[in-house]
Amino acid sequence: MPNSTSSYHSQRGFLQLARHDASMIAAELRAGLLETTPRTSAKYLYDALGSKLFEAICELPEYYPTRTESAIFARHLPAIAAAIGTGATLIDLGAGNCAKAAKLFAALQPAQYVPVDISVEFLRDAVGFLQQRFPQIDMFGLGLDFSAALDLPPQVRRAQRLFFYPGSSIGNFSPEEALVFLRHLRDSCGSDGGLLIGVDLVKDHTVLDAAYDDALGVTAAFNRNVLLHLNRLLEADFALADWQHRGFFNAQHSRIEMHLEARRALTVQWRGGQRSFAEGERIHTENSYKYTEHSFKDLLLQAGFGELSTWTDEQGWFLVCHARVM
Ligand code: AVI
Repeated sequence: MPNSTSSYHSQRGFLQLARHDASMIAAELRAGLLETTPRTSAKYLYDALGSKLFEAICELPEYYPTRTESAIFARHLPAIAAAIGTGATLIDLGAGNCAKAAKLFAALQPAQYVPVDISVEFLRDAVGFLQQRFPQIDMFGLGLDFSAALDLPPQVRRAQRLFFYPGSSIGNFSPEEALVFLRHLRDSCGSDGGLLIGVDLVKDHTVLDAAYDDALGVTAAFNRNVLLHLNRLLEADFALADWQHRGFFNAQHSRIEMHLEARRALTVQWRGGQRSFAEGERIHTENSYKYTEHSFKDLLLQAGFGELSTWTDEQGWFLVCHARVM
């Protein structure tokens, strides 16, 4: 991956918009690590290995969101398609292997499919394969950090834009950030657009705790892997053996928190700096907010969406929501 701010390249059917450069990333990380409560942005969990570990998390018995959401889509697809209508411009935020959106194609018959991910390289194979299966759908892969900005290029059709944001990724923003992000989506929708989103709901705390601290230790590996990523990005010397995973529900903030906790007093060095950690001191690596149906609908209304339709599972663990621009 090039270390440039202005990497912007286009190929028929694909476009990569500018990435942050390595020195900006390092500066952001160093500032976070030096705060009174040290923290790293959750996006650094997803290097190549982190993305694979997240795929493994989605297979775990304790991690219910993926299979629960998928069951809601499977069960209610005709009703979801009826609410949305055919011919949409389906913009898939964080598309990855495009598998979730592909399951909607037959029912939704989108006119254009726009998978968006941080790098077009992640999308290339999946889009090539899907284009062969669905030659009638115009496909345009976009490499973009949409959490930072959402400027869609002119190749993306303006008509009937439907943003697809599954997997409760909205939960990795704070409610305040989520509101700003949803407003950006609303503004990018045009007058006839909408949003199809999956959201994890508040539930029994033991279920939540287990989902983020599984017996096999995959979530622990996912969390601790951020240290290997930091070592590369910052030329740091975090030792894996010194840090343990903590993942638990914080009811006061209605969020899962993930932290890395120092097993002993230690000092970590990185290029141009260092920090000492006391035994038990934590680096906050991720929040995953859990909503009630009511609180999430309220957020959508505040963001300028309306005409909400919702679907949930029998246990009321997860919510799929379609909303139109108002
Ligand atoms: C991607 N995101 C919605 C996941 C979540 O549940 O917040 C990330 C994750 N973190 C730990 N396990 C899964």
